[in-house]
Amino acid sequence: MGKLFEKFPDPLARLIVVVLAMVALGAFAYFVLIPKPVKDIDLQWADAIKREKARPVKYAGFHVCEECHGEIARMKAVSHHVQLECTTCHQAPQQHKISPRAVKPSKPQTREFCGKCHGKDSKDKLAKNAPKIDLAGHGEKYVCWQCHYPHSPEVEQ
Ligand code: HEC
Ligand code: HEC
Ligand code: HEC
Ligand code: HEC
Repeated sequence: MGKLFEKFPDPLARLIVVVLAMVALGAFAYFVLIPKPVKDIDLQWADAIKREKARPVKYAGFHVCEECHGEIARMKAVSHHVQLECTTCHQAPQQHKISPRAVKPSKPQTREFCGKCHGKDSKDKLAKNAPKIDLAGHGEKYVCWQCHYPHSPEVEQ
């Protein structure tokens, strides 16, 4: 080895050693460290298909709702609730799209529902930017949507 290295300028020899070491490490990682299922393309696909099939069927987001509820969607899009999905407040069964009058989505029923984000001690992750109110002392005789249209809850300043 010493003789061989003498023929090369020193930096080149070191470079060769480094490259060889990297190749060896790469081979070790590929053959020894990475588990077989990760390398098996067929298995990868099979898993992905199984995974997707196992997911419950549900609406992808408000775009599906927009097809039939365009006016509400457009209103919401320019409101303070723009970042909220329809499905944040409505649980819509897939069947609603096929028989919309027979199978209806849920609607919020309580003040506490809005309080999840707007209550003083709210922890919801979307609630970070939500203005907070004291549920016990704010319009407490009524449901929130008596005074705030939920799809465009704009408060006049
Ligand atoms: C194929 C058209 C269609 C699609 C898609 C659709 N809806 Fe509807 N939706 C309707 C119709 C029609 C009604 C009934 C309106 C009525 O009774 O006056 C309705 C009613 C509703 C109601 C009111 C239920 C009630 O009890 O008053 C809600 C809430 C609702 N839809 C939410 C959604 C949401 C959320 C989505 C998307 C996940 C969605 N809809 C997708 C057609 C649709
Ligand atoms: C912040 C929660 C919230 C979001 C987000 C929301 N809704 Fe609603 N929605 C409500 C509440 C609360 C009612 C019940 C209002 C009432 O009874 O006066 C309602 C009522 C409805 C109704 C019944 C008719 C009406 O106008 O009252 C439909 C249809 C509807 N929502 C569709 C949608 C669609 C479509 C989206 C998304 C574009 C959406 N909602 C997003 C809270 C929400
Ligand atoms: C998932 C969280 C979430 C829920 C649930 C929610 N909101 Fe909001 N709401 C927000 C956020 C975030 C903002 C402020 C966004 C911004 O300032 O751009 C907001 C803003 C508002 C505002 C202030 C509008 C203004 O002009 O400043 C009102 C009023 C309001 N929401 C009412 C309601 C009512 C009524 C409900 C229940 C039907 C409700 N919200 C449910 C997140 C939520
Ligand atoms: C009796 C009518 C009424 C009811 C019911 C009501 N509000 Fe309000 N809300 C108002 C008015 C008026 C304002 C604007 C003046 C103010 O800030 O108090 C307001 C303001 C707000 C604001 C903005 C506060 C800010 O600092 O910008 C939020 C958020 C809000 N309401 C959420 C709700 C929620 C959530 C409910 C149900 C738990 C609710 N409101 C019930 C009348 C009402």
